[in-house]
Order: sequence, then structure tokens, then C-alpha cells
Amino acid sequence: MVGINRRWFPISISFLAALLAVSVLIAPGRAQQGDKKSAAAGQSKTYDRPTDPALYVGAETCKTCHEDMPTHGFINNYESSPHFATTLDTKRGPEWHGCEACHGPGKEHVDGGGDKTKIFSFKGASAQEASARCLGCHQYGEEHSNYGRSVHLTNGVGCIDCHDPHYAKESQFLLKAKQPVLCYGCHQDKKQEFTRTFHHRVNEGLVKCTDCHNPHGGFLTRQLRASASQDTVCYKCHSDKAGPFVYEHESVKIEGCVACHTPHGSSNPRMLRRAQVNLLCLECHAFTADAGPAATPTFHNQAQKYQACTLCHTAIHGSNSNQFFFTP
Ligand code: HEC
Ligand code: HEC
Ligand code: HEC
Ligand code: HEC
Ligand code: HEC
Ligand code: HEC
Ligand code: HEC
Ligand code: HEC
Ligand code: HEC
Ligand code: HEC
Repeated sequence: MVGINRRWFPISISFLAALLAVSVLIAPGRAQQGDKKSAAAGQSKTYDRPTDPALYVGAETCKTCHEDMPTHGFINNYESSPHFATTLDTKRGPEWHGCEACHGPGKEHVDGGGDKTKIFSFKGASAQEASARCLGCHQYGEEHSNYGRSVHLTNGVGCIDCHDPHYAKESQFLLKAKQPVLCYGCHQDKKQEFTRTFHHRVNEGLVKCTDCHNPHGGFLTRQLRASASQDTVCYKCHSDKAGPFVYEHESVKIEGCVACHTPHGSSNPRMLRRAQVNLLCLECHAFTADAGPAATPTFHNQAQKYQACTLCHTAIHGSNSNQFFFTP
């Protein structure tokens, strides 16, 4: 468990994640106390491990019959997988060790000469049930703490739809496939969006789906990640757009980047939502506006000269020198 915390701890921890991490470090009983209520609410259902040591046999025994099991796939040596070393934490009971940490107690299965009905097999288990086994160890930290409420899990997508402890095709993260192929397996329509003329270079490997999305859920809509300052994920890479500016373009701050841009790809330059910039601006800045954003001045007669709005209003994301965004 220490391994998990060490890795997750340094990354921009939200208040909630910090609470969760702390609750792992202190005695388990204390983690249940009232002040942890909000943290507990975000936690997912986990598998209730039987703790009687007599029910367990240990990985060495499993291997006497399943000697082929650890040698499958790209991760061809279970001993070298992250699960082997780390689940051998001798300070915790056998229910956290080796094969049985995931498959549950195996004594009855062994005594029955390999009775299939006496061991938990992930085959045919629901996404919730299978994931509960993993979450006992993986629900802590910002990355996974809201998985139980994620759009993925609530739509029946569990850990082992993307990961495979035995047969992983990828050496990193025990993934069944590399991104974006993994994601396109279910999100085929997105593949087409990333082949449009102007796009984030996901297919080229420059940007990953998981740079913007947390496939394990998180706390924002669309499973989006946030920037380090808990702001829109776009600032992670486009920090020059973050400001603060003396003159903010309110739409950037309030509606966010997607008011004007498509995040994946577009046939319009700069991934704008509209092919012509003027039409984009006029959606909010009508020529006659009683309320809301300022009306586009009538001297902007939409002759050629006034169509290219950003030719004059160049600092469209915000300015430190000019109210009308003429200069940065
Ligand atoms: C005495 C030999 C033996 C030992 C020891 C043993 N198994 Fe098995 N196991 C079997 C046999 C036989 C099967 C059935 C194989 C089949 O029918 O495909 C099996 C099947 C399984 C399955 C698959 C169930 C399914 O529905 O397909 C799992 C998971 C499993 N064992 C895990 C374990 C674990 C974990 C341990 C250690 C706790 C263990 N086994 C120890 C013999 C053994
Ligand atoms: C991190 C959790 C985890 C650990 C640890 C683990 N397994 Fe599994 N095991 C799974 C999952 C998930 C599946 C089902 C997915 C799959 O088919 O690969 C599975 C499937 C199996 C099966 C079903 C047969 C098959 O070929 O798919 C057997 C047998 C098995 N495990 C035995 C073992 C043994 C023996 C160990 C210890 C050496 C072990 N497992 C350790 C998660 C785990
Ligand atoms: C929809 C696919 C998907 C699902 C479902 C999923 N993962 Fe992941 N997971 C990924 C991808 C992709 C990565 C690699 C992330 C990256 O490259 O930034 C990853 C990374 C990880 C990591 C290593 C990174 C870290 O933050 O520690 C762990 C551990 C992990 N997943 C565990 C789980 C567990 C446990 C579940 C179920 C509760 C789960 N995952 C469900 C896709 C998924
Ligand atoms: C007994 C606790 C335990 C259980 C149960 C468990 N894991 Fe893990 N897992 C760990 C630890 C510890 C690590 C190592 C974390 C680290 O590298 O910091 C790890 C690492 C991982 C990684 C990251 C691998 C990498 O390359 O960094 C993935 C993915 C993962 N687990 C998925 C799963 C899935 C899926 C399940 C359920 C089938 C599962 N785990 C069940 C303890 C567990
Ligand atoms: C540059 C950041 C970024 C990258 C990279 C990215 N997305 Fe998105 N994605 C977003 C944003 C922002 C939204 C929300 C759009 C909105 O609210 O209008 C979104 C929405 C979605 C949605 C839900 C809404 C819809 O359009 O169906 C899915 C599914 C999705 N993305 C999948 C993916 C997949 C799969 C990948 C990788 C192949 C990916 N995304 C890569 C930023 C990104
Ligand atoms: C096993 C199938 C499967 C895989 C693999 C998968 N997804 Fe999903 N994903 C779904 C389903 C089902 C939904 C919910 C229905 C929908 O919105 O399409 C969903 C929804 C989403 C959403 C939309 C959330 C919302 O609020 O609308 C995003 C974003 C997303 N997935 C990103 C990813 C990313 C990134 C990957 C790859 C790391 C990935 N998915 C891999 C099945 C999958
Ligand atoms: C992981 C880093 C990363 C994140 C996060 C990111 N971008 Fe980008 N973005 C890039 C890179 C790199 C380019 C350069 C494009 C290229 O040359 O492929 C780019 C280019 C762009 C462009 C200009 C495209 C063009 O045609 O010149 C726009 C607009 C854009 N991003 C908007 C966004 C929005 C909106 C978000 C949030 C939804 C976002 N970006 C999140 C990395 C990122
Ligand atoms: C009010 C509409 C609007 C909003 C909101 C908006 N943009 Fe833009 N953005 C534009 C326009 C218009 C252009 C093209 C400017 C040009 O052609 O000179 C552009 C260009 C860009 C470019 C490429 C050129 C450059 O300046 O680097 C990037 C990257 C970009 N935007 C990122 C973002 C990000 C990130 C956000 C959210 C913080 C955002 N935009 C919000 C209208 C907008
Ligand atoms: C999503 C709606 C939206 C879009 C699209 C949009 N704006 Fe704005 N804009 C606003 C809001 C809201 C304000 C702040 C209220 C105000 O002062 O009018 C604002 C303010 C401005 C101002 C400053 C007005 C003043 O009096 O201080 C200018 C100039 C401006 N926008 C130009 C543009 C241009 C050019 C475009 C197209 C590239 C554009 N806007 C696209 C919503 C939008
Ligand atoms: C040739 C340069 C030029 C172009 C092109 C241009 N504008 Fe302007 N814009 C101006 C000037 C000059 C002002 C007036 C600033 C002042 O009042 O001092 C202005 C003011 C504005 C204002 C603020 C009005 C107010 O009362 O606060 C908005 C909104 C605006 N423009 C929108 C647009 C839109 C939308 C487009 C594209 C359809 C556009 N502009 C194209 C030069 C331009």
C-alpha cells in the first residue's frame, strides 16, 4: 500500500484526495470517523475480504497446479509484475497477498482438487463485482477515488475491460491495448474526429486521450481532468491562455474553451466551431443586443474588412492592455 501512496501523493492533490490518502496512512478503524464522511461518500464499493487465515493457501500452492498461469502474455513473468512484489506486504493478512488478493480464499478450491465453483473467477462477473476486487487496493488517491460513480462503471465498463493482470498486451499499466486503440475499441466515432484536418495529434501519439480525460472517472463532467490549479484541463498545455488578464474575455472564463473550439478535431482552422470567425462571434455579439454580451457595433458593416474579427481583436483570449482585445 505504501507503494501506491508514494506514487499518488505528490500529484496536485485535491482536498478530498488528501483526506483519502491520510485515511490510508492511519489505522483503518480511524478512517471511518465522522470527519471522513465526505471522502467515504466518493469511495466505491469494495470486496469484503474474509480475514480468517485458515481459508488461504498462498500463491506457491496455487502455482503447483497453475504453473502456466504466470507465464502468459507480454508480462510473461508474474514475479516481475507490479502485483507480485507489492501484494506480498507481510504486515497485512493473507487476504492481501498473491493470487488470493484478487481471487479470494482458495483453500476450498484446492481441497476440492480445483473445484471451479469454489474460487472467484472474473469470467462472467459483473463490472461492479470484478472492479470491487481491484478497488480494495486502488480506490485511494485522486485518480481512482470516484470510480464508483464514473460514467464508465455506471455504464458497465470495469477495470478488466481495459486492464488485464495476466495477459496484458502492454508492458506499462497492464493495459489490454495502447491508447488510442484501447479507447477507439468502444468510442469508434471519436476516431473520425481525430482525423479531421485540424486536430489534437492523438493518432500521431503527441497527445493522449488520458491527458484530458480520466478513464477512472474523477469529479468533473465528461470524465475530464483539471489543470494543476483545478482549472480547465486545456491550461495544462495552453498556459498562455490562462491569464489572469486585466481585460478578460468573459466567455473564455465562463463558458470555457469549448464555447469556441471543438476539443478533438474540426475541419475549421484553429479547431473553431464555425468555419467563419465572424459567425462565431455574432452568435454572442448580435448587432442588436439588449442584454448579454456587447452588441457588435453597427459600423462593423460586415463588408469584407469587418469579417475577419480577430484581425483587429487579436488578443481574443484576454488582454492586459486593451478592453477590446486589440493588443495583448
Ligand atoms: C490441486 C490443483 C489446484 C490448485 C492447488 C489450485 N487450482 Fe485453481 N484450478 C484447478 C483446476 C483443475 C481448475 C479447473 C480448470 C478448468 O476446468 O479449466 C482450476 C480453475 C481455477 C480458476 C478458474 C475458474 C474458472 O471459472 O475458469 C481460477 C481463477 C483458479 N483456479 C485460481 C486458483 C487459485 C487462486 C489458486 C490458489 C489459491 C488455485 N487456483 C489453486 C486446480 C487447482
Ligand atoms: C491483480 C489481480 C489478480 C491476481 C493477483 C491474480 N489474478 Fe488470476 N485473474 C485475474 C483476472 C482479472 C482474471 C480474468 C481476466 C483474464 O482472463 O485474464 C484472472 C483469471 C485467472 C484464471 C482463469 C483462467 C484463465 O486463463 O483466464 C486463473 C486460473 C487465474 N487467474 C489464476 C491465478 C493465479 C494462479 C494467480 C497467482 C499466481 C493469479 N491468478 C493472480 C486477476 C488476478
Ligand atoms: C476505460 C479504460 C480503463 C478503465 C475502465 C480502467 N482503467 Fe486504469 N488505466 C487506463 C489507462 C489508459 C491508464 C494509463 C493512464 C495514462 O497513460 O495516463 C490506466 C492507468 C491505471 C493505473 C496506473 C496509473 C496510476 O494512476 O496509478 C492503475 C493503478 C489503474 N489504471 C487501475 C485501474 C483500476 C483498479 C480500475 C478499475 C477500478 C481501472 N484502472 C479502470 C484505463 C482504464
Ligand atoms: C492487494 C492489493 C491489490 C489488488 C487487489 C489489486 N492491485 Fe493493482 N496494484 C497494487 C499495487 C500495490 C500496485 C503497485 C502500485 C505502484 O506501482 O505504485 C498495483 C499496480 C497496478 C497497476 C499499475 C501497473 C503499472 O504498470 O504501473 C494496474 C494497472 C493495476 N494494479 C490494476 C489492477 C486491477 C485491474 C486489479 C483487479 C483485477 C488490481 N490491480 C488489484 C495492488 C493491488
Ligand atoms: C485536448 C483534450 C482532449 C483530448 C486529447 C481528448 N478529449 Fe475527449 N473531450 C474533451 C472535452 C473538453 C470534452 C467535452 C466536450 C464538451 O463538453 O462539449 C470531450 C468529450 C469527450 C466525450 C463525450 C462527449 C462526446 O463528444 O461524445 C468522449 C466519449 C470523449 N471525449 C472521448 C475521447 C477519446 C476516446 C479520446 C482519445 C481518442 C479523447 N476524448 C481525447 C477533451 C479531450
Ligand atoms: C469497454 C468499452 C470502453 C472502453 C475501452 C472505453 N470506454 Fe469510454 N465509455 C464507454 C461507455 C459504455 C461510456 C458511456 C456511454 C457513452 O457515453 O458513450 C463511455 C463514456 C466515456 C466518456 C464520456 C463521459 C460522459 O460524461 O459522457 C469519456 C470521456 C470516455 N468514455 C473516455 C474514454 C477513454 C479516454 C478511453 C480510453 C482510455 C475509453 N473511454 C475507453 C465504454 C468504453
Ligand atoms: C496534453 C497537452 C494539451 C492539452 C491538454 C490541450 N492541448 Fe490544445 N494543443 C496541444 C498541442 C501540442 C497543440 C499543437 C497542435 C499541433 O501542432 O498538433 C495544440 C493546439 C491547439 C489549438 C490550435 C490548433 C491549430 O489549428 O492551430 C487549439 C485551438 C487548441 N489546442 C485548443 C485546446 C483546447 C480547447 C483544449 C482543452 C479542451 C486543449 N487544447 C488541451 C496540446 C494540448
Ligand atoms: C470567444 C471564443 C474563444 C474562446 C472562448 C477560446 N478561444 Fe481560442 N481562439 C479563438 C479564435 C477566434 C482563435 C483564432 C485566432 C486567430 O485566428 O488569430 C483562437 C485560437 C486559439 C489557439 C491557436 C492560436 C493561439 O493563439 O495560440 C489556441 C491554442 C487556442 N485558441 C486555445 C484556447 C483555449 C485553451 C481556450 C480556453 C482557455 C480558448 N482558446 C478559448 C476563440 C476562442
Ligand atoms: C460564447 C459567447 C461569446 C463568443 C462566441 C464571443 N464573445 Fe466576446 N464577449 C462575450 C462576453 C460575455 C463578453 C463580456 C460582456 C461584454 O462586455 O460584452 C464579451 C466581450 C467582448 C469584447 C469586449 C467588449 C467590451 O465592451 O468590453 C469584445 C471586443 C469581444 N467580446 C469580441 C469578440 C469577438 C471578436 C469574438 C469572436 C472571435 C467574440 N467576442 C466571441 C461573449 C462571447
Ligand atoms: C477593422 C478592425 C475591426 C474588425 C475587423 C472588427 N472590429 Fe470590432 N471593433 C473595432 C473597433 C475600432 C471597435 C470600437 C472600439 C471603441 O469603441 O473604442 C470595436 C468594438 C467591438 C466591440 C465592442 C462594442 C462595445 O460597444 O463595447 C465588439 C463586441 C466587437 N467590436 C465585435 C467585433 C466582431 C464580432 C467582429 C467581426 C464580425 C469585429 N468586431 C471586427 C474594430 C474592428
